[in-house]
Amino acid sequence: MKDAIILSKLKKLSKENIVSFHIPGHKNGKIYQRYNKKYFPESILSLDVTEIPGTDNLHNPEEMIKEAQDQAAKFFEAEHTFFLINGTSTGNISALMTVANPNEKVIVARDCHKSVMHGLILGGLIPVYITPEVSKESNIPMGIKPEKIEKAIVKNPDVKAVILTYPNYYGICSDIEAIANIVHKYEKILIVDEAHGSHFNLSEDLPIPAIKAGADIVVQSIHKTLPSFTQSSMLHVKSNRVDIERLRFMLMMNQSSSPSYLLMSSLDVARAISENEGKSLMKELLESIDYFHEKIANEEGIKVLDKNLIGKYGVKNIDKTRLVIDMTKLGISGITLDKLLRERYKIQMEMSDINNVVAVCTIGNDRKDFEKLLKALINIKKEITYKKIYLPPFFYHVPKMKITPRDAAFRKKTAINFEESIGKISGEYIIPYPPGIPILCPGEEITDEIIIYIKSLKERGINIIGMDDVDLEKIKVI
Ligand SMILES: Cc1ncc(COP(=O)(O)O)c(C=O)c1O
Repeated sequence: MKDAIILSKLKKLSKENIVSFHIPGHKNGKIYQRYNKKYFPESILSLDVTEIPGTDNLHNPEEMIKEAQDQAAKFFEAEHTFFLINGTSTGNISALMTVANPNEKVIVARDCHKSVMHGLILGGLIPVYITPEVSKESNIPMGIKPEKIEKAIVKNPDVKAVILTYPNYYGICSDIEAIANIVHKYEKILIVDEAHGSHFNLSEDLPIPAIKAGADIVVQSIHKTLPSFTQSSMLHVKSNRVDIERLRFMLMMNQSSSPSYLLMSSLDVARAISENEGKSLMKELLESIDYFHEKIANEEGIKVLDKNLIGKYGVKNIDKTRLVIDMTKLGISGITLDKLLRERYKIQMEMSDINNVVAVCTIGNDRKDFEKLLKALINIKKEITYKKIYLPPFFYHVPKMKITPRDAAFRKKTAINFEESIGKISGEYIIPYPPGIPILCPGEEITDEIIIYIKSLKERGINIIGMDDVDLEKIKVI
């Protein structure tokens, strides 16, 4: 007889005691243990229930779920809060399907998450893309300049809404207040994908929460940066421009009709921990991060993204809880560093690109985690031999959209050689990391410039996601 496969593997992994600079924000449950089972008992199995008398109904909440959502709305300073059990992905999709009808336009930041693309497909919406600035030194995507958004609205006065990511994966924040003012000047709706910023209201030293800055709809992956279970998110509304009943319908349509009570209760627990002790935990965390910066500043060759960026590349602020570490001066790529940290030091980082590794630090981390990370980085610096790292130039042109994302999703696709694809319509995404901004989306025209660029990425071994052919010989066209 075979054991339960996933469970056995997970149990084995959990015994390794890996230090987590990774999502979820509860850090392998460490934060719940800190409160001596006040929030979650050891066995939560009996709490996995369904809709029975006394447990309320997520899609028509009147009792405890309504009370918990109302309390969350109060804490996050929203007018309405909806618990999401299919992540921020469902929130982005439902928000887009609420603010525009099929064949209507929305302004979309080109560095958006794929769920935004999926919202365009499901809603049959037409994107007007705007690109963030990109750092020449590191290829990291930076802020979106407010004037770019104004220009796009003036050029497309029929757009219904603007959707952008704030902060981005690297903790970079655009001037969201200025953007909200512009969007509202033209009576449009601002949706903010704040998947990585649900902790912002725990300290004045963090960037302003999008809801406070004036966004109409904000979606937050509470599971990423606050202590809730994976897949649990919240969608907040503070606006009289949003049709709440339509939003409720879209959420009901896009989410499971059997929402998990474990996920919902973990959202409520994350709110309770944040409300009761979040500010002091965040103060402790920011002190540990300051300590990390202080120590690492003495280590030549190890660069950590810091406040010096503010004011450049459309950057209004940065999230201090995101550590972006670059050791390329010492000849260590982000990808190698990520691997070494996990394999040799049992430290799991969130992600890496050719230059950087990114750590997600939350109120679930403690000072010891930072000491371990520091020690590991200093050891790696001593041990590793230098290897030159090449960065490709960033290709900055949004290609012509020949058919809509929805049309492209449903049309037949054929894989052909790259060289033969010039002038054809792409059937897939091509997204180099860094900067994680698509150079091609389905429905867009393939040009010779794009082919040349992809070849240069291939030669340099840059990580490209989206394409089926990992050898980058063939591309799917429509
Ligand atoms: C910017 C951004 N938005 C949305 C999502 C999707 O969030 P979720 O995993 O909560 O569905 C992600 C996930 O990584 C993300 O990075």
